[in-house]
Amino acid sequence: MSTSSSAQAAINPFWPSAEMASTSVEEFHTVLSSSTRIMALCGAGLSAASGLETFRGAGGMWRNYQATALATPEAFERDPGLVWLFYSMRRHKALQAKPNMGHYALAELSRKMPEGFITLTQNVDGLSQRANHPRPQLKLLHDSIFDIKCFDCDYREMNNFDDPYHPSLANHTPEEVNDRLVNTVTARAALLDPATPPAIPRSELPHCPSCKDGLLRPGVVWFGESLPEETLEEADDWVNSGPIDLCLVIGTTATVYPAASYVDIARSRGARIVVINMDREELGSAKNLRDGDFLFEGDASKILPEILKPIIGDLDEEALRANEGGK
Ligand code: APR
Repeated sequence: MSTSSSAQAAINPFWPSAEMASTSVEEFHTVLSSSTRIMALCGAGLSAASGLETFRGAGGMWRNYQATALATPEAFERDPGLVWLFYSMRRHKALQAKPNMGHYALAELSRKMPEGFITLTQNVDGLSQRANHPRPQLKLLHDSIFDIKCFDCDYREMNNFDDPYHPSLANHTPEEVNDRLVNTVTARAALLDPATPPAIPRSELPHCPSCKDGLLRPGVVWFGESLPEETLEEADDWVNSGPIDLCLVIGTTATVYPAASYVDIARSRGARIVVINMDREELGSAKNLRDGDFLFEGDASKILPEILKPIIGDLDEEALRANEGGK
């Protein structure tokens, strides 16, 4: 994945086309009722109401250039302990968090439209899965923070929810890690300065049980790496199997490729773009809204249950939470 698409150069922070989009829920309900194929592209903003930090945008913990500081193979090679501490904190926070009504609304829309709705998510936090989102309709573009893989060989372990994942990560509270990493000047300096001692000695970090030599690493897609091939094929199969009526762009700055390109792909298949975002100035590939598109500015956990109501009905929050899926 990367942020270096040529499309990025076209980003206009003033978003002149905002006024072209409708903000009427009533109008959206009319369009929704005649829609048979709907795609959602989700980002970190979907999980913001669950208490998880976004990467960029309002309330984001990193700005664009900073996101690359720890989420790269190069950063891991240089200081695997530092990178592991960051992901250890994110694993911990994701495990503490609960799915919100936005996750539940998308899961319910999937059940109501088993063929006609697909969700492509950039989120690695497992919250959609815990909201019982039907798995065939949920494509994890950036994989999962609960997968572990070897940095050197093909070893991969799925759904490991140990917290901390490894004893070497146990003596660092998430708060300590957060304090250290949130100051990205320090984090970047630590990464760039060869004199900075590694956060945790390499020998203490988890090693691959298969090849023995390689270090284990979080199984997420980092900058410069390819997205999971099978997942992309499944997403593309769905996209190519007919016209698309609506593309819901939920809580994402849509600046990381190839995920962000699905907005243009959906558009080319006829979709109206429907932006659900807290911040109208951070919309990346979804910025060029036109007449016929929609913009719902605010919290996805509140907006999704409301705008999808004609299909999903009134959600029973208590019942949904009582049936929260296993991790
Ligand atoms: N409801 C809706 N949108 C929200 C909310 C909310 N409650 N809170 C924040 N947002 C919006 C922000 O305005 C921003 O546009 O969510 C978006 C989050 O954007 P990013 O932090 O850039 O997250 P995302 O788009 O998912 O990042 C893509 O970048 O670092 C990589 O791999 C990482 O998958 C991630 C990818």
